[in-house]
Amino acid sequence: MKPTAALLNEVLDEVRPLIGQGKVADYIPALANVPASKLGIAVCYNDGEVIQAGDSQEGFSIQSISKVLSLTLAMTLYEPEELWSRVGKEPSGHAFNSMIQLELEKGIPRNPFINPGAIVVSDLLHSRLCAPQYRMLELVRELSCNPHIVYDKVVASSEMQHSDRNASIAYLMRSFGNFDNEVMPVLTNYFSYCALKMSCVDLARTFSYLANKGLPLGAKKRIISQTQSKHINALLATCGLYDGAGEFAYRVGMPGKSGVGGGIIAIVPGEMTIAVWSPELDQSGNSVAGTAALEKLSERIGRSIF
Ligand code: DON
Repeated sequence: MKPTAALLNEVLDEVRPLIGQGKVADYIPALANVPASKLGIAVCYNDGEVIQAGDSQEGFSIQSISKVLSLTLAMTLYEPEELWSRVGKEPSGHAFNSMIQLELEKGIPRNPFINPGAIVVSDLLHSRLCAPQYRMLELVRELSCNPHIVYDKVVASSEMQHSDRNASIAYLMRSFGNFDNEVMPVLTNYFSYCALKMSCVDLARTFSYLANKGLPLGAKKRIISQTQSKHINALLATCGLYDGAGEFAYRVGMPGKSGVGGGIIAIVPGEMTIAVWSPELDQSGNSVAGTAALEKLSERIGRSIF
């Protein structure tokens, strides 16, 4: 069954009572001010039709969802062996900002979606692009068909002021020789990517290329190949929700990516892209009501990759 706006509204009504069970991220102080009551969802079909409900047009901080965009950009700039010698493809089973494995595994992050992995990918972008922040913004505006998307400078600078852990991660990787540039300029870019402000509608449109074999909405040319799109979806399914990836696969059954702003994107390959937003998070840093909404939607429309 194809979801309708009425079905999306029903799903949101069913999960709204879960608000109060999670915790809004406050380790980035600028995120702590976002009202916990926000709840939105959007679905973008591969033909470009969008249906939506709730706070689906309100911009929020996409945080780690940006790691998918960084990886996509890196895949367009590097040969696979260059990229995958710097970062792995395995689930970590640890928190997104954990350093334990990084020390044991000699500065090679487990995958591109945990913080160490995304910071290495940002280092790779820094080496090949003369204006990485500009290129990222250009990419995201193109993919979302929204020229008004911006970086939220308040969020980016709030994260920069509380950057001790991410800076430690970067310096640890540098001590193992897995970092080519100065740490702080790379982190500045990484924080900006995380601070992209987008709505559920923007996100559902943006990631449509992953539901459509690398072909962005309204485009004639793929930005990545069909095989690269398969690769990203496989990594999303195994690593996109950190140490909650197994639970998410079990409940939702779609490749997905979360962010501590409370957003989650989920891909139904060949058909549609879904984005949800509810700021309260579980212990793994994934949106509580957002995950529940995706679980209910997957059941109601009978879609899952499993
Ligand atoms: O670097 C950080 O900690 C944040 N900018 C991003 C973390 C994040 O979104 C993890 N996602 N669930």
